[in-house]
Amino acid sequence: MISGTNTSLLQRRHKVLGQHSPLFYDEPLNIVRGENVWLFDVDGKRYLDVYNNVPHVGHSHPHVVEALSLQASTLCTHTRYLHDNVVRYAERLTATFDDSLSMAMFTCTGSEANELALRMARHVTGGSGIIVTDFAYHGNTEAVAELGTAFMAEAKATRRVRSIPIPDSYRAMGGLTGEALGEAYANCVKNEIAAFEADGIKFAGILLCPDFANEGLLNVPSGFLEKAVAHVREAGGVFIADEVQAGFGRSGRHMWAHQQYNVTPDIVTLGKPMGNGHPLAGVVARADIIESFGASSMYFNTFGGNPVSCAVGMAVLDVLEQENLLQNAIDTGAYVSKGLRALQNKYELIGEVRDLGMFFALELVSDRILKEPASEASHKIVNTLRREGVLISKIGRYDNILKLRPPMPFKPEHADILLAALDKAFSQIQEEQ
Ligand SMILES: Cc1ncc(COP(=O)(O)O)c(C=O)c1O
Repeated sequence: MISGTNTSLLQRRHKVLGQHSPLFYDEPLNIVRGENVWLFDVDGKRYLDVYNNVPHVGHSHPHVVEALSLQASTLCTHTRYLHDNVVRYAERLTATFDDSLSMAMFTCTGSEANELALRMARHVTGGSGIIVTDFAYHGNTEAVAELGTAFMAEAKATRRVRSIPIPDSYRAMGGLTGEALGEAYANCVKNEIAAFEADGIKFAGILLCPDFANEGLLNVPSGFLEKAVAHVREAGGVFIADEVQAGFGRSGRHMWAHQQYNVTPDIVTLGKPMGNGHPLAGVVARADIIESFGASSMYFNTFGGNPVSCAVGMAVLDVLEQENLLQNAIDTGAYVSKGLRALQNKYELIGEVRDLGMFFALELVSDRILKEPASEASHKIVNTLRREGVLISKIGRYDNILKLRPPMPFKPEHADILLAALDKAFSQIQEEQ
């Protein structure tokens, strides 16, 4: 039951933020402190964080906090003065990308980064048509809301954004498999480019999250992305990789999710984990794109990439390296994945387990053959786990995909707590049926 303190806070919140300001869980949480992979509520109860990717190197990491506080107590201006932090961070960041992606621009949010990427893409191509998937979320500005086929009214109203079916191998288009499936989804890109042309709208490019994280962390059919981008480039468009959610080594094998494919984007957008909770985001792109855009439009972001933000960004990179967190994503990721697959063997409800380093999705279905989405069960599992002190969430067109995406220092001992809680929640549901 929601406590008296929380009820009163919720009522006050509704009065000043409105009824539609989204909250997690049937019984919203009042979190007051975070440490590593743990969150603590107002009553001192501890929760294992298996959801938040913003505190990428762990909640309130001391090295990040120290870097922030040291720079904040020295100077915080903006990028219109020379400052070593800004240049050094841009150098360190771009060094983690392929050689062609050699310049950076800083913003405060992933939405701003995508907005800027759209402006660049439209500037260099002279077009306006953008392709996304049919269950996408890329942020909240007006232009970016047009890309939000998952949740945004603006996406329905626009003519300059068209969508392709999510490249899903679980609910595979036409029952195809392997390369044929990848090719079929890539052909949808070709068809939408033609549809833009028929509509008199010049094509500008495609914008995709390489992990298809909001779409449900898809198992992407082989060859899809490479073929899709080939169609895009043939039509004069650019490929924007939205790494806002997927980036900074979550897959373990690569620093950037697009590096799992055999294709390099023209523009990449970054955010969420970049500042470990501090508002730091940005765009990394081909130098010719950034130079051409900059020559035609002045871009200044008052807070984006200020010396404090860049100190924080560098501290995040330090921790990723010093604590070997990409390797941890591979090792602990494999451990979690094995446990999740054991649960799949035990519970019919788990139709598919998908994993990519420290990122996991469980697609719940009431019938494995018919793949009937088990949306209500997903809701129950998420809320049961919350009561058990484990925080996860759910996503997907049918709201039936459990999304597990813990901070990167997540270890096997934390995984054991997660797996035991999932086991208990699934067995409760099984008993009820
Ligand atoms: C893939 C992706 N892109 C962009 C954004 C927008 O980022 P922000 O909320 O920082 O504006 C989000 C946020 O959820 C996201 O998931």
